[in-house]
Amino acid sequence: MISPDLPVSLRAVLEQQAQGLSRNDAAVRAAMISRAYRDGGNSRTIRSESDALAYALARMPATYAAVAACLNALTDARDDFQPESLLDVGAGPGTATWAALQAYPSLQRMDLLDANPALRRLALTLAAEQMPPTPLDYQQADARSGIAAMPQADLVIASYMIGELMEDARAAFATELWRKTRDTLLVVEPGTPAGYARIVALRTQLIAQGAHVVAPCPHDEACPLDKPDWCHFAQRLSRSRAHKQIKGAELPFEDEKFSYVVLAREVVTQRPARILAPPLVTKAEMRLKLCQPDGTASIASVPRRDKAAYARVRRLGWGDTMPSTEADSSGL
Ligand SMILES: C[S@@+](CC[C@H](N)C(=O)[O-])C[C@H]1O[C@@H](n2cnc3c(N)ncnc32)[C@H](O)[C@@H]1O
Repeated sequence: MISPDLPVSLRAVLEQQAQGLSRNDAAVRAAMISRAYRDGGNSRTIRSESDALAYALARMPATYAAVAACLNALTDARDDFQPESLLDVGAGPGTATWAALQAYPSLQRMDLLDANPALRRLALTLAAEQMPPTPLDYQQADARSGIAAMPQADLVIASYMIGELMEDARAAFATELWRKTRDTLLVVEPGTPAGYARIVALRTQLIAQGAHVVAPCPHDEACPLDKPDWCHFAQRLSRSRAHKQIKGAELPFEDEKFSYVVLAREVVTQRPARILAPPLVTKAEMRLKLCQPDGTASIASVPRRDKAAYARVRRLGWGDTMPSTEADSSGL
């Protein structure tokens, strides 16, 4: 399992790059980029090296934490998965690539694709300045047309990317992502109803094309959640001093909300129930909202008086899987 925090070496290079940048200027740029996102815009507002750096300082720790959480869920489900090749689509500053490198020392080849030249330059600087430098191939192109020329990979990741495509381009793009996937595909989106809707649409489409869900759903059935409910998770990450300054924040941590799906060509044999919300702890019991292997969602109650079962669940949290005995003991 990997830490949700940026690796020390990467953070050091980022902060070193940021030394020439006034924190106020970076904060203003990061706020402008965030505002563009909130208004339904995309990363096209990131034009200069300073914009790219401001974006990376403000957002990369959180998107890294979300990808790290997804890769941990993948490792939890398939601890024998050892990808040798990675394709990071909409790679930006290389966030998902850095997380995948932490999770999978087996990686030998990394291909990245993005249309944004400033983010690509930053990723290449981060790759070159780390010790040891990370060899990677980073193509600059519109992913809708450029993905066809990219090599297939054992692991394909599109992190916080498909939301930047026009809705009518997403289905064809999902098919291309799947075509490039030799083994496993991870797609991560912001943990909002709109981000979840994009994940569900892609999940439904690719299951129809032969994919199997590895995480978070323990099944390939339709999502059992009804509107206004939506499936999302949260990852806590620590904020460095630079991160706090650029976000004008006091708290030494933040919680990144994300929705995701991991799809694979082979079905995973064990798919335990997953906890879909922060557990509710009362004096008498712990109540857990679960997505079940049979494709339903339900509430499991584990009474404190059942000491053995309670001891097994008390440390579980939102996003974790349930050992099957707990689901059994709660009568589900
Ligand atoms: C929000 S950023 C996410 C970057 C990175 N994957 C991460 O998780 O931090 C979205 C990225 O998708 C890229 N992108 C959006 N639409 C694209 C397209 N049509 N072709 C290539 N890249 C695209 C943007 O340039 C940007 O780098």
